[in-house]
Amino acid sequence: MTPTDPRPIAVLGGTGPAGMGLALRWARAGEIIIIGSRDARRAEDTADRIKLKAGNQAKVSGMENSAACAAADLLVLTVPFEGQAALIKQLKPAMRPGSILIDATVPLATAVGGRASRTLGVWQGSASQQAAELVPTGVAAVAAFHNLSAELLNGDGLLDCDVIVCGDDAHANQLTRTLAAKIPGVRAIDGGKLENARILEQITALLIGLNIRHKGHGGIRITGLPPEAYL
Ligand SMILES: NC(=O)c1ccc[n+]([C@@H]2O[C@H](COP(=O)([O-])OP(=O)(O)OC[C@H]3O[C@@H](n4cnc5c(N)ncnc54)[C@H](OP(=O)(O)O)[C@@H]3O)[C@@H](O)[C@H]2O)c1
Repeated sequence: MTPTDPRPIAVLGGTGPAGMGLALRWARAGEIIIIGSRDARRAEDTADRIKLKAGNQAKVSGMENSAACAAADLLVLTVPFEGQAALIKQLKPAMRPGSILIDATVPLATAVGGRASRTLGVWQGSASQQAAELVPTGVAAVAAFHNLSAELLNGDGLLDCDVIVCGDDAHANQLTRTLAAKIPGVRAIDGGKLENARILEQITALLIGLNIRHKGHGGIRITGLPPEAYL
């Protein structure tokens, strides 16, 4: 496998704003997208809505999460924290060795009735490290896309944001950065080991607080790195 191979991307929980926005941007970039949902019909409806926005040439279909997972080796997880562990356990038998699970889950305190501007402590260190612990051997977990506003992703404009990608598998990290850089306005940066995902997840809570305070759609830019650090 190389970073340029055509392959479907399964967006699990892709019926929500975060997954749908990522799927829309990648569909516009020519990627083959499978929207995953607990309900196949909802996935198909979302795929149709994305095609309406991205154009008829867009390659987007919808399936129940397990079927979507079995049909792809690039898996993007965009579900609320309260559903993350159970969904990964359910999907485990459908994950093929060599697959990459890109996790965008933020452990917001809303999972237990708290504020969206706070996060929960996760025993493993972060939601993405929890994901890494739950995937089968041979599946690489990567953390990315936590700090992109779904509202902006679902629009038509440039994002004006950086995506920091954290993961322990260099190939999976590189491939995820290639995908991130396909979103107009996004620069992708290697953020090092998966353990740094806890910081990406915390930044989202801060951004949500800033968005509430200033009524905006904040993102992050990292300045001062050499040009080769940005993809
Ligand atoms: N929204 C943002 O701006 C943003 C930005 C960055 C990261 N994130 C993170 O990305 C994830 C998704 O965000 P979102 O706003 O799109 O969330 P969401 O709308 O609450 O959920 C996304 C989808 O997940 C599925 N889902 C909901 N509860 C589930 C459960 N208990 N088990 C399995 N699937 C479940 C639903 O799809 P079906 O009912 O069709 O199965 C839903 O449409 C979250 O972890 C969030 O913190 C969000």
